Amino acid sequence: MADIVNYGIIGCGMMGHEHMRNIALLPDARVAAIFEPDAVMADTAKCIAPDIVICPDLDSLLQRPDLDCLLIASPNFRHLEQLEHIAAQNPLPILVEKPLFTDPDQADRLQALHATYPAPIWVAMEYRYMPPIAALLDKAAEVTGGVQMLTIREHRFPFLEKIGDWNRFNRYTGGTFVEKCCHFFDLMRLVIGAEPMRVMASGGQAANHLDETYQGEVPDILDHGYVLVDFANGARAMLELCMFAEGARYQEEVSALGQLGKIEALVPGPGRFWPADLGDPPVAQLVISPRDPKGPQSRSIPVDPDLLEAGDHNGSTFYQHQKFLDVVRGTTTPEVSLADGWAAVAMGLAAQESMRTGLPVPLDLKWV
Ligand SMILES: NC(=O)c1ccc[n+]([C@@H]2O[C@H](COP(=O)([O-])OP(=O)(O)OC[C@H]3O[C@@H](n4cnc5c(N)ncnc54)[C@H](O)[C@@H]3O)[C@@H](O)[C@H]2O)c1
Repeated sequence: MADIVNYGIIGCGMMGHEHMRNIALLPDARVAAIFEPDAVMADTAKCIAPDIVICPDLDSLLQRPDLDCLLIASPNFRHLEQLEHIAAQNPLPILVEKPLFTDPDQADRLQALHATYPAPIWVAMEYRYMPPIAALLDKAAEVTGGVQMLTIREHRFPFLEKIGDWNRFNRYTGGTFVEKCCHFFDLMRLVIGAEPMRVMASGGQAANHLDETYQGEVPDILDHGYVLVDFANGARAMLELCMFAEGARYQEEVSALGQLGKIEALVPGPGRFWPADLGDPPVAQLVISPRDPKGPQSRSIPVDPDLLEAGDHNGSTFYQHQKFLDVVRGTTTPEVSLADGWAAVAMGLAAQESMRTGLPVPLDLKWV
């Protein structure tokens, strides 16, 4: 493998641009070519990396001999078909954006891909690499004495506008608890270290996008809800999502509790959305609250300003690429596997089913 790893990018909109800005910060990687059907997005991508080649279609990108890996950052409903197309044309190592898939009927196709794809696939659920979340992950077992309860609260802004408005409809996103919350279900499995057994949920569309129409159709995406998850080791987790709460100081609040104590990570949203008249955006916090002796300790977990500038995800996109490059170089395997991507979506789909039926949904992730 050459010293410089050459990426090919498939779909280069908002998140594709964030990936490009972060790849540009890595000394040993570059974007060689992209396939982006939207001319405006292709032009702005070229502003980030002027020497990239804009390919007219997916096949001409896949036929390029200079690529070492691929990044898929197209709309959610395109991910699985593009993974299959790549498998048939040029099975390179892939970093595929979340969610891995959008429809429960796609399980057989996933199974086939899981069994046959000859190169590594990493699913871009990067929240575990946000410095405050990484600090919580590092300390959780010690502080809690074993996590019994985990609560993840996301209070944020409504879904942003996307190219072609694909994120306004469940059939394209997989649904809010798949599209937005797969990150959190991934964190639940990681923090608790066990598999989910049952999901119970309640949610709805209370505030967002109700006054919008697209070709006469009003968006059907949910904007809030609660999800309870029971795990095989007896631990429990809860997700609280509100997509009309951008006034919050912290966007994500994660708290893990056990018999020895509690640990919390307070994570701000994108700095670009913090009003200048309020001064500097909040800095992430880690709060450790032992039961005995009592004495909560809070400390700031600042993120490198260059990484904050490069994206909306507290620097995690950069750290994810650093690790992915090791996979491309063959020195390690994906930390966020295809099976992890599958499990996170399965939990989101179960939550949405529970919201529809009002009933608990058993989960049996035996293939994970
Ligand atoms: N990991 C994260 O934290 C994170 C954050 C935001 C978005 N995402 C994911 O990134 C992906 C892209 O989201 P976005 O916010 O950049 O949306 P976007 O609409 O800004 O970008 C999607 C791009 O894909 C292009 N596109 C459409 N159809 C395509 C096709 N068939 N082949 C190739 N490109 C195609 C569009 O022209 C557009 O430029 C989604 O899967 C989304 O869930 C992940």
